[in-house]
Amino acid sequence: MSYPTHRPRRLRRNVALRSLVRETRLTTASLIYPMFVCPGTKVRQEVSSMPGVYQQSVDQIMEEAREVESLGISGIILFGLPENKDPRGLSSLHAQGVVQRAIEAIRKAKLKLLVITDVCLCEYTDHGHCGIVEDGEVANDATLEILAQQAFSHARAGADIVAPSDMMDGRVAAIRKMLDANKFENIAILSYAAKYCSGFYGPFREAAQSAPQFGDRRSYQMDPANAREALKEVKLDLEEGADMVMVKPALAYLDVIRRVRDQFDVPVAAYNVSGEYSMVKAAAQNGWLDEKRVVLEILTGIQRAGADILLTYHAKDVARWLKP
Ligand code: PBG
Repeated sequence: MSYPTHRPRRLRRNVALRSLVRETRLTTASLIYPMFVCPGTKVRQEVSSMPGVYQQSVDQIMEEAREVESLGISGIILFGLPENKDPRGLSSLHAQGVVQRAIEAIRKAKLKLLVITDVCLCEYTDHGHCGIVEDGEVANDATLEILAQQAFSHARAGADIVAPSDMMDGRVAAIRKMLDANKFENIAILSYAAKYCSGFYGPFREAAQSAPQFGDRRSYQMDPANAREALKEVKLDLEEGADMVMVKPALAYLDVIRRVRDQFDVPVAAYNVSGEYSMVKAAAQNGWLDEKRVVLEILTGIQRAGADILLTYHAKDVARWLKP
């Protein structure tokens, strides 16, 4: 039986009906807001390719973190811009490092925000790669120890969740082992399990000053053409002890989000990355798109694809728009 018995338009007639039958509901609680911590005090430097996003010293991070919490956003993810870079990214381990100090300040202020830290070396190495370089190659196993140390130092500073984004094989196991050996068995791991080698990270590399100085990340980040391989990466990370997994970027990988959601019963996060943000901002600034409408449509789409958790630079705007 079809028309005229069936008229799908019956359920679209007014706001109340549409709201009643809506399948996907974006909520502020599922949002995570990324932030960039830099040295100094009173520093608040806008990232030119990401309007509304700033590199900030710890004092300024604190102010914005308070605002993020008051908006009802569940958490933040911190990226560090260290004072010094070296071949091994050792400044990422310092108890007085930028990220560690930011976490401590947030803990001291007793904010209820979840503090997630990005665990990687690219922001801290002078060559800008996500691991240690040996003979011109990013050396997998030599990198694991320093990643585990970094995760440990974030946990010690008070992080709730560590999120390795380096894409070295075996990092989840190395981090889990290190955390457990140091009585941090309750610190969760959100692994960037399916992280693609993407052009959409361009603006982030300006924000985090982390562009590779030679070569690219193709030997460790995934080939954009592969989806089955993403399922393998997720499976391995879960076996190694990941509590939650991430697909990144989001928009060009909605099919991957859906397949991960269907195949694994763990929380799935999606990272609506810098380039996805900048495209919308640029178009909106030119008056070519209705920013609010498009951002809500994009994030609803990512959630509809299967993401439970949305990491997005739009989080504060979305929280304001969703306020009843
Ligand atoms: C660090 C890292 C990157 C992003 C998150 N963690 C950049 C990269 O891999 O080059 C990208 C985030 C974004 O583009 O918003 N490894």
